[in-house]
Amino acid sequence: MSEYESDQPPGFVIAVDGPAASGKGTIATGLGAAFGLPVLDTGLLYRCVGYLVQKAGENLDDAASATAAAILLTADQLANPALRTRAAGEAASRVAVHPRVRDALLEFQRTFARQEGGAVLDGRDIGTVIAPDAAAKLFVTARAEVRAHRRWTQLKAQGERVTLKAVAADIRRRDARDGGRDAAPMTPAEDAVLLDTSEMTIEQAADAARRIVEAARARWTVSS
Ligand code: C5P
Repeated sequence: MSEYESDQPPGFVIAVDGPAASGKGTIATGLGAAFGLPVLDTGLLYRCVGYLVQKAGENLDDAASATAAAILLTADQLANPALRTRAAGEAASRVAVHPRVRDALLEFQRTFARQEGGAVLDGRDIGTVIAPDAAAKLFVTARAEVRAHRRWTQLKAQGERVTLKAVAADIRRRDARDGGRDAAPMTPAEDAVLLDTSEMTIEQAADAARRIVEAARARWTVSS
C-alpha cells in the first residue's frame, strides 16, 4: 500500500502537463504510486488515433478520418507497443490539432479524472481544459536539447535507429505545433507550478514533484 492510500480523500486530481520528453510521464507514474492514484497518459490517446489513421492508409491531416478513429477508440488499444515509437509521436501531434478529435477524446479523459478517490493525468491540456479544477497542477519542462537527448536515448533503447539531430528536429517541430495550434494549445495553466527538470536526475525530478503535490494536497485537504 502506498504512503497515502489509507486516508486518501475522494477526488484528488493531479494534472501533469509539459512538452515531449520533459519527464512528465515518469513523474506522473511516480505521483500515482506515491499518492495511490490511477494514472492516465493522455498522449497515448492521440498516439493511438494517429496510429489507427495511418494503419487505415488515411491522411493524418484529414479531420474526418482522425475524428472517426477517435470516436471508435477503446482503452484496450492503448497497450500497443507501436504507440511508443517516434513515428507515433509525430502522428499524434498531427491529429491533435483537429478540434473534433480533441472533443471526441474529452469525455474519456474527464471520466478518468472524475473517478472516486481521484487520478493523475499527464498531457498538454490537463490543467487548462480536461481538469481545470485539479487540486494539484504541474507544468514540467526542460531545455529542448536536454529533452532531445533523453528522447534519443529512450528511442535507441527501444531499438530505433535514429540520430540525435533528427530527434532534436522532431522535438522542435512538435513544440511549435503543440504550442501554436488553435485548439487547446500547450500552455501552463495560470495556477500550475513550473518544474524545470533540465538539471535534475529523474529521481530528483520525481522527488520535487512529490513535494509540490504534497503541499497542494495539504491545502486541498483543509479546503475540502
Ligand atoms: O505526451 P506524448 O508525447 O505521448 O504526446 C503525443 C502528442 O499528443 C503530443 O505531441 C501532442 O500533440 C498530443 N497531445 C495533446 N494533448 C494531450 C496529450 C498529448 O495534444 N493531452
